[in-house]
Amino acid sequence: MAHADPADRDRLIVALDVPSVDAAEAMIGKLGDSVGFYKIGYQLAYAGGLALVPKLIDAGKMVFVDLKLHDIGNTVARGVESLNSLGATFLTVHAYPQTMKAAVEARGKSGLKILAVTVLTSYDDTDLADAGYTLGVRDLVEARARQALAIGVDGLVCSPEEAAHLRGIVGPAMALVTPGIRPAGAAAGDQKRIMTPARAIAAGASHLVVGRPVMDAADPKQAAEAIVAEIAAAK
Ligand code: C5P
Repeated sequence: MAHADPADRDRLIVALDVPSVDAAEAMIGKLGDSVGFYKIGYQLAYAGGLALVPKLIDAGKMVFVDLKLHDIGNTVARGVESLNSLGATFLTVHAYPQTMKAAVEARGKSGLKILAVTVLTSYDDTDLADAGYTLGVRDLVEARARQALAIGVDGLVCSPEEAAHLRGIVGPAMALVTPGIRPAGAAAGDQKRIMTPARAIAAGASHLVVGRPVMDAADPKQAAEAIVAEIAAAK
C-alpha cells in the first residue's frame, strides 16, 4: 500500500451515519488513526451527536457538520454563531444567496468553513420544474456556484460528475466535497452517479465523503486505509 501522508488522510471524510452516539463512538474507536475527518448529519446530530464534536476535536480529528441550513438570514446567522464555538471545520447550507451571505458573515474568522449545497443530487430537471424553477440542474448548479464564489463561501458539495466542471468555474481555492464515492468493487447502494476515489480526486474534488463503503465494511479500518491509499496514488 502506498504511503499516505496526513494531508491525504484528511481528504477522506467518513460519514457517521449511525443512530446513536454510542454507535458512533464504537465506530470511531474501530477506525482509530485511519480516519482524521468525520461527518455528522441529521441522523446522528438529532440523536445528540453534536456533543461529539468537541470530543472529536480534542482527539485531534476534524468534523463536518452536515445540517444543510436554510432559513431567514437572521436565523441562519444565529445558528452559525452557536456552531462557531464547537470547533467544526465544515458546515453545510443550501446555496440561496441570503442564506450563504448570512452564514459567511456569521462564521467570521472562527475557522468554520461554509459549504454550499448547490442542487441536491436527488433532484433532476423535472423535480426542479415541479418545485417552480425555470432553470435545469446544470444551469442552476452553475449559477449557484458563481453566486457562492462571489459571496465568499468556502466550498461546495457536489456530485463527483460535476467536480471537473465546477473546478473550472470556481478556481483552485474553493473546497469541492463529493459524496457518491465507491471504491472499485463496492456496492453502489442507492447512489446512482458514483465515482471511484481516484477518479473523483483527478476530477478536482478536494474531499471525499464516504459512508457505507467504510461503515458497512467487514474491516472498516482497512477499508478507510485503502481509500486513503487510492487518494494518495491519484495525485
Ligand atoms: O453511504 P454513502 O457513501 O452513500 O454516504 C454518503 C454520505 O453523503 C451520506 O451521509 C449522505 O447523506 C451524504 N450525501 C449524499 N449525496 C449528496 C449529499 C450528501 O450521499 N448529494
